[in-house]
Amino acid sequence: MTFFITDLHKDLRQARLARRGASPTGEGIVEGVHKTYPRMEAVSLPAPAALGVSLDEVLTKRMSATRCISSEAFSLEDLGTLLGAALGRHSGQIKRKYPSGGALYPVETYLLLPQSDELKAGVYHYNPTDHALERLWDIPYEVDVMRLVNGPEEFTMSGLLIFTNVWPRSSAKYGDFAYVLGLLEAGHMSENILLVGTALGFPMRPIEGYADKALNELLDLDTEKEQVVQTIMLGKSQTE
Ligand SMILES: Cc1cc2nc3c(=O)[nH]c(=O)nc-3n(C[C@H](O)[C@H](O)[C@H](O)COP(=O)(O)O)c2cc1C
Repeated sequence: MTFFITDLHKDLRQARLARRGASPTGEGIVEGVHKTYPRMEAVSLPAPAALGVSLDEVLTKRMSATRCISSEAFSLEDLGTLLGAALGRHSGQIKRKYPSGGALYPVETYLLLPQSDELKAGVYHYNPTDHALERLWDIPYEVDVMRLVNGPEEFTMSGLLIFTNVWPRSSAKYGDFAYVLGLLEAGHMSENILLVGTALGFPMRPIEGYADKALNELLDLDTEKEQVVQTIMLGKSQTE
């Protein structure tokens, strides 16, 4: 007897060999691409600060927070270090701080900031080439950010990080096997964020129980090509 999951896994592994769904010509497959929003305001982030903690200490401290008591906004320095150290590009290279199947980087990073301070509240996209946040639009007043994820009620978010996968960027080369690669890549990115965030003292919690439709709409995704694959609740204050 086989289960849906074992069949699915076998099928996706076989898709790797057959390159089912891959572009026969390999045309248009470019490494290191990401989305940009050139018509939107871009906020340059400061270069990441040195973390100054040992990997041992970070690994020992990392836990998913169940509580975060303050709704303090992130500073530009906070976000410059969090995003740059975890997800930025290596200097002078297209490669980034995390691995990617075929260096195609199909996963995009979005950030919801519900509080205004140095950065206005709103929906942002991280541009790793410019190390900048592109401000897309306001969070509509009817959207309750806490309802977008099924996380602990006592966790007040200063940000919600959202990873989406632009499937064709990777499936053009790998076919349906891009699904496996895409989720693994989001996992690498997520762990980098969790480790850097822990070094910075931020409470965080990865959430797979997110509101797909609401998030896809909020980010205005073309869901034939791009879908949300992972979210991380971000807090600024120390847990109690
Ligand atoms: C892929 C993944 C999905 C998760 N989804 C949720 C979620 O939807 N809601 C939630 O409250 N916690 C979620 N978590 C957090 C786990 O509950 C947490 O990692 C687990 O209890 C282990 O605790 P620790 O992270 O503190 O070591 C998720 C964790 C992972 C890795």
